[in-house]
This record gives sequence, structure tokens and C-alpha cells, in this order.
Amino acid sequence: MPEHLPRRQVLRTAGALGLGAAAAGALTGPAEAAGTPDRLATMGAHHGKLEIGKAPFGTTPDGKKVDVYTFSNGRMTISMLTWGATIQRVETPDRRGRVKNISLGFDNLPDYAALSPYFGSTIGRYGNRIAKGKFSIDGNSYQIPLNNGENALHGGTLGFDKKVWSAKIVQSAKAVGVAFTYVSPDGEMGFPGELTSTVTYTLDRDDNLRIEYHATVKGKPTIVNLTNHVYFNLGGEGSGPIDGHVLQLNAPKYTPVDATLIPTGEIAPVAGTPFDFTKPTAIGARLRGDHPQLVVGRGYDHNFVLGGKTGADGLRFAARFWEPEDGRTITVHTSEPGAQFYSGNFLDGTFRGIGDRAYRQGDAFAFETQHFPDSPNQPNFPSTVLRPGQTYRSTTVYNFGTK
Ligand code: GLA
Repeated sequence: MPEHLPRRQVLRTAGALGLGAAAAGALTGPAEAAGTPDRLATMGAHHGKLEIGKAPFGTTPDGKKVDVYTFSNGRMTISMLTWGATIQRVETPDRRGRVKNISLGFDNLPDYAALSPYFGSTIGRYGNRIAKGKFSIDGNSYQIPLNNGENALHGGTLGFDKKVWSAKIVQSAKAVGVAFTYVSPDGEMGFPGELTSTVTYTLDRDDNLRIEYHATVKGKPTIVNLTNHVYFNLGGEGSGPIDGHVLQLNAPKYTPVDATLIPTGEIAPVAGTPFDFTKPTAIGARLRGDHPQLVVGRGYDHNFVLGGKTGADGLRFAARFWEPEDGRTITVHTSEPGAQFYSGNFLDGTFRGIGDRAYRQGDAFAFETQHFPDSPNQPNFPSTVLRPGQTYRSTTVYNFGTK
């Protein structure tokens, strides 16, 4: 597509300036002419330099400026937007050292605003579905706008993924990244209480992307369930189906859903079903079977209940993904009780991503660490209520490796 050519040229030019592919990505989009990042901080150089840069990415229709931050540990590079506190690119080497972007996304703001199915987005105020968008706290009823058939999904029509977050660079001797903050007013999308959320994304020298969520509410109790909806393809974004990725999940149970993907309330064992990933198994091995839950989900689109207890650091092993051909791995640890494993079922090829290739069904997976969907209406699920004076905290660590 000819209109994509200039963007690629910009990528090459920025690469030639020694900014690296991901930093070059930071220069793409409507504001690409703006040039070099206005800040480049370097912090020591043991196994590679910790660096971070910032560049303009575009302007929203209502005039808000959006920036892209690009941070690197010398081996891998991550770009994030202030739009939706979005992970735009994740560049990692494979087992032979070939670097590719493994995260689905776009190179321009209009595509994010118009098309993105939550690519890399920070999701709030409530990740996943709330049945009919209704819930109550202390006898007061609330209604979230419906945006997924008869249900509310990912915080309603204008969730945190569509907000411009403020950003602050975070750096230490060990890690570099960005703390994003968004203040959601009382009543926004129907949710009670003014919620201040800060989500800090840092990359360390050991290839850990650590995501720390923090939120407090003023005025009224509310519900909170923050997550990130990054889509990965460990063979490179746009490289085809993820059926061959091998998955190991620390999840002895999952929460089956009804036809609208709302949990039935049952917490079911995975044993003997296609939901059993307790031993490493290819994602595609049972994906096209006739299990009724795979039929309603059009694949995997389910909350898994994580097993065991959290360790001294408050985290537990949740999942390991491995792409055998190029050898990339992602290992996830989290403080959350569950995770939505989504096999990219609703990608349908209608739009092209950052590498100018169409994303089709099953071309990526998402692994959204979280409390269970529809918890506000499910008395047997862990509570997602946050009251004034309390602090919501959640941590998820993605480790990127090769095998
Ligand atoms: C979550 C949902 C899926 C889908 C994606 C976004 O993973 O569970 O059903 O809506 O978000 O497309």
C-alpha cells in the first residue's frame, strides 16, 4: 500500500541515525516530522545500556497531544503510547539473535483510535465483561454503557484504553520505564467514585517487563480490575497463526461462560478438557475441537483460575508461552488470581498492523492477568470492590527469553 511507504522510509532513516528499530518506531505516525526524541537518558552499561526516549506520536481529534516513549535495555526495546498507556512495540531477539517486534499494534494514532481491539492497551476501570453492564455496591445500582452485545466490556464505550494518560519517566540502576497516571472522574462510564490509577511499566536488565498497578478512589466505593491487553505473536507480529505456540498454564480450573461470554458462576476443573494446559501443549492442538466452551468462545476466550499460592514477592507463576521455531518465550508471573487467555478469535483481517500485514483470526494471543470477569455479580468470585482509604495494587511480570 503506497501510503505506508513513507513510514517505512522514516523507520530506515531513524535506524541509520543509530536510534534502533524501536526508537525509529517512536518517530512514526502523524508527528513523524517532529524528529529526534527530546530526551535520551542513559544509565550505565553492564549487559547493555538502559535508555529511554520520548517523541510526539500524534494529536487526538479533541486536541490532546500523544507521545511515544521508547525504552531499551540494549537487548530488547519497548515502545509505549500515552494513548491508553499502550504497549505499541516489543522488540526481542530470537534464539539466533534476530530481533523482531512481537506485539500487535499500529504505527499511527488514527488507527488506534478507530480500529484497535485493545492492542497493548491498559484496560480499566473494569477489565473484561460485566453482565448487562449492571452491578451494585452497598445497595446502590450502577449502569455501564453496553459495548459488547448486551454486556459491558473493558470499562465501557470509552474505557481507559481510549484516554490520554500523563506520563513520567522512571529510572533506576536496574530498570527503566514509564509511570502512567489517569484520573477517572466520579460517574465516568457509570462507575462511582473518582479513581486515580497509576500503572508503571519498567524493563530491567534481565528482560523483565514489570507492570505495577496502583489505584485509589475518592468519594464513593467502586470496582476496579486493571489489566493490559497486549497481543503477542512470538514469531513476530503479522507472521501468521499462533497454533504452534506451546503453552503451559498454572491453572487447574477455569470459569466456563454462557453464550455472551459471561461466566456461569461455575469454577470448573480443566482436567480432561481442552482447557488443561497444566503440561506444555500447543495452543492449536485442541483449538478446533467440538468442546462447547470452545464453540461459544470461537476458541480460547476464558478466565483461568491460577493455582497455588503467591510467593514472598506476592507473585506466582501463571504461564509460559514458547514458539518452537524461533525459540522466543514469555513467562508470566502475577499477583492476580486469574488471567483471561484469548486466542485472538475476533481478529478478522479487516485491518493491517504496524508491519503492514493483515491480522487474521488466531494470529496472536492475549494473556490478561486480572480478577475474574463479572466479579461484581458473582458472589463466589474474589471481590473487586475498592473503598475510599483502601489501595488497589496488582503486579504482573512478563519475562522475555529464548529456548
Ligand atoms: C478480551 C475478551 C475477548 C475480546 C478481546 C478484545 O480478551 O474476552 O472476548 O473482546 O478482549 O477483542
